[in-house]
Amino acid sequence: MSPALRTLSETDESFLLNAGTTIEADEALQDAAGALSTLLEPYVGRALPLKAGRHSLVLRLDETLGEGLKPFQKEECYSLEVTADKVVLTAVTTLGAFHGVQTLAKALPALWQAGACAALPGGKVMDYPEYPYRAFMLDCGRHFFPVSTVKKVIDILALHQLNTFHWHLSEDQGWRLEIKKYPRLTEVGSRRAGSPVPGREGHDGVPVSGFYTQEEAREVVAYAAARGIEVIPEIDLPGHMKAALASYPELGCTGGPYEVACEYGVLDDVLCAGRKETLQFVCDVLDEVMDIFPSRYIHLGGDECPKVRWEACPRCQAQIRFLGLKSQGKRTREELLQSWFMDQVSTYVEAHGRRSIAWNDVLVDWGNDVIGAPSKKTVMAGWMRPVSTEIAVREGYDAIFCPVGHLYLSSREGNELRGEAYLRRVFDAPLPALQADEKFHILGVEACIWSEWVDQEDLLLWELLPRLALVSDLQWGDPAARDFKAMLPRLERMQQLYTARGWKWNEAAATLQ
Ligand code: ACM
Ligand code: ZN
Repeated sequence: MSPALRTLSETDESFLLNAGTTIEADEALQDAAGALSTLLEPYVGRALPLKAGRHSLVLRLDETLGEGLKPFQKEECYSLEVTADKVVLTAVTTLGAFHGVQTLAKALPALWQAGACAALPGGKVMDYPEYPYRAFMLDCGRHFFPVSTVKKVIDILALHQLNTFHWHLSEDQGWRLEIKKYPRLTEVGSRRAGSPVPGREGHDGVPVSGFYTQEEAREVVAYAAARGIEVIPEIDLPGHMKAALASYPELGCTGGPYEVACEYGVLDDVLCAGRKETLQFVCDVLDEVMDIFPSRYIHLGGDECPKVRWEACPRCQAQIRFLGLKSQGKRTREELLQSWFMDQVSTYVEAHGRRSIAWNDVLVDWGNDVIGAPSKKTVMAGWMRPVSTEIAVREGYDAIFCPVGHLYLSSREGNELRGEAYLRRVFDAPLPALQADEKFHILGVEACIWSEWVDQEDLLLWELLPRLALVSDLQWGDPAARDFKAMLPRLERMQQLYTARGWKWNEAAATLQ
């Protein structure tokens, strides 16, 4: 398995799955029991009956498990005891039970390899995560992925004991979520005329389109929840909004006309922060988003918002004067206007009992200078450099570690590496150097795939695997036990499992050991 289990003591016994094996589960653990039954079905050729038996896998809740752990660790911890007659999986919550089921799944793939009987090795395990927030982000804006692919990604996240799927749903190049109050967002905003071609002007003329109906989005939320995963939606604002502007040009500073972008990069046209209709639009959209997604967090984007339109826009300038914003060193009046805009939206989100997340450009620039002053209630997603997460924590924010150089799995440079270097880039991601009392403001670790150059499921999985196993090591594993060489056999096992499930994976480092 990957990461290493916190504590493991092995015995010589093993639990052999056979025709009489059953699954017994507490009432609250029926979903986890169902997941276990599905996982075991290929080994025994039928669904295991859910009933008591002499030779059974037992799933139990026990509030006393995990005494002494931090509250979030207790919430997700599980124990396993495997003897010849019983597999006993104990957890404090249903989420912990899911993690235990996934550990059993990871103990099994060698069986495929050996073609031998389906046996679980005997022993005792006690396991819990290092961080409470363990996420993967998929950009469905630059390219659209069907629900079937999104579900496959969720299955993959569950296997790696992540608990969060961050779903990037709006972009310059495509708006991907049905919003009933603003139908043009998908009628117009979900279609573009083509995509850029490297080294050439213009685009390829091949249309790209697609969006998720609200019903489909709810289906994804339910599918993820049944696997212990929370879906966090992202509506990226006030930048990366060209598809929304193409749909409703009156939301921009110039009034358009605008087109859904057929180029990539950081575009100048953004939402106008000086029109009250803009905030109304954002709040209306978020009403529907919060109704679909029950997540604790709502991601508001906030990244890569050029200020050229705001500098020239009479409405934005009037708003700056009205708010009395004054530049302070690198904090320009327009940067502070963005802080104000983000605060209006995050206050709205908070009034609905949620917390907001924003990319850390709302706080720091590429020179690591603090340029914004958003509300401390917003969680900073530190993508720009590893140090940007440290800065966010020192400025008093909760933060998520997701540095572009290490955990952007779509990065071309990362994907061109071979052998050990390919793995090391993720494995060696430098977690922020903070004091123990500051560390607890790091909520967790997130990896991202941006889909500018990924338009197929196979390519997406190839970028994701096997490095998601290394991401999981950073998110879940004991930092004191991290060891590159010791991880390689576990990675090998994961790769066998990917192959058995028909998931494409990158063989750049397949032969290391
Ligand atoms: C980002 O990569 N623009 C968050
Ligand atoms: Zn404006």
